[in-house]
Amino acid sequence: MNFIALVIIIAFSLAIIAVFLYSIFLIDAIISNIRVEYIDVPSSKRAIENIKKTIRELELKKVVFYDLGSSRGSLAISIKKSFPHFDVYGFDRSGFKIILSRAKAFLWGAKVNFFRRDILKVDIREADIIYTYVWPTTVEKLQEKFDKEAKNGTFFIASTFPFPNWRAILERETLTIKRDPSFEKIFLYRK
Ligand SMILES: C[S@@+](CC[C@H](N)C(=O)[O-])C[C@H]1O[C@@H](n2cnc3c(N)ncnc32)[C@H](O)[C@@H]1O
Repeated sequence: MNFIALVIIIAFSLAIIAVFLYSIFLIDAIISNIRVEYIDVPSSKRAIENIKKTIRELELKKVVFYDLGSSRGSLAISIKKSFPHFDVYGFDRSGFKIILSRAKAFLWGAKVNFFRRDILKVDIREADIIYTYVWPTTVEKLQEKFDKEAKNGTFFIASTFPFPNWRAILERETLTIKRDPSFEKIFLYRK
């Protein structure tokens, strides 16, 4: 077999694998009733570093950390790795992403608790820090929930989409996309 034929076979196989994986995401999105734009936009490495810097500055000792809408678990796992004394939880309504997250946490040796849940129905009373990176319509509903259910003193970190009715105590640009400074901008709130 010559070299060009080999390259074509490899490229073709990779394309089939990519289409297969994307189909799983689409089917999962349909089953889980997730809009297509929600499917997969994990926080970038730079945003995660910004979030960790913000957390470090809080100088908290014992922390229950919730990632509401944890997707494939990268942020939650990374937080647990950097703050091993935190109890870290990730919630997402996609069963497929929760399975992936649990597998990753196992492989990475990070003890993170991932649950398949609608984040609007998660019991948040135990959380000390809540992280959100979800669409503004969901942020709006979450903010109402936080107003009613979160304990006083809870910190909230929102990426890109701020809480419409709360004033941030800190804002930090990540500048993943230079022409759009609001993208992955980090907002810190305290109830
Ligand atoms: C932009 S991703 C955030 C990923 C992760 N938090 C990070 O920063 O890397 C948003 C995630 O929120 C989830 N999501 C959106 N609305 C949800 C809801 N009502 N209940 C549960 N998960 C939801 C989506 O499935 C998606 O995985």
